[in-house]
Amino acid sequence: MTRGGGLDWTEKGSGDRVLLLVHGFPLSREIWEEQVEALSHDLQVIAPDLRGFGASPGRIESMEAAARDLLELMDQLGCRKFAAAGHSMGGYVLFAMRRLAPDRLSALGLVCTRAAADSEETKKSREEMARRAMELGVEFLADLMPRRQLAPGTAPELVEKVRRIVRRAAPEGVAAALRAMAARTDATPLLSTLDLPVVVIAGRRDPLIPAAETEAMAAAIPSARLVWCENAAHLAMMEEPRLVTDALRLLAVR
Ligand code: MLT
Repeated sequence: MTRGGGLDWTEKGSGDRVLLLVHGFPLSREIWEEQVEALSHDLQVIAPDLRGFGASPGRIESMEAAARDLLELMDQLGCRKFAAAGHSMGGYVLFAMRRLAPDRLSALGLVCTRAAADSEETKKSREEMARRAMELGVEFLADLMPRRQLAPGTAPELVEKVRRIVRRAAPEGVAAALRAMAARTDATPLLSTLDLPVVVIAGRRDPLIPAAETEAMAAAIPSARLVWCENAAHLAMMEEPRLVTDALRLLAVR
């Protein structure tokens, strides 16, 4: 279905408690399949594809624009206040949402993500990757991303699933998201102002986000709970789905 904010999304479950799940780069709502299934028994779960990913057309112009798309979707679904969890880039979008509309979020899940903005070096490598995606398409990312985002020794079916998800991303969507991430605001100053329940979920084997950075982020948020997924890398919701589901359930039903 494409409507709110121009996005396509999955909606499952019902009730007063609503959980929005926001995927990371260069993925889609499919990463949350296990959580949508399990949590929809207790909650209304909404999992959109961000612009340029999965089945949503267009491209992300900025983290703020992506947050506005999601707010529009939630308005159209009649959800004024809701819990939300964001994976990696999805976390950056939720930080932007919190800045834009601080009263909309009732609880926040930060899954394998970080608060800091990009270094100059990271910005440069994102620009190179954006150009490559525009020239060659996304196949190189379908090869690269599972190696970067999943722990060594991951089951081949899961590796294949991630590849399949990445292949659905549009090259223009990939390039725009990379540039939008490079231009994002540092969310570190926001952390101490998060006066809502927060769970930080991280993969102990994540090669993209050092454990010390995750620990510092959680420590800067008043009353954040930190959940380590010992066997996961960067895709904890797929690598250790039950642990992530349980942590999000506790957050959303509080
Ligand atoms: C993601 O998983 O969304 C990306 O690793 C985020 C990033 O590149 O900063």
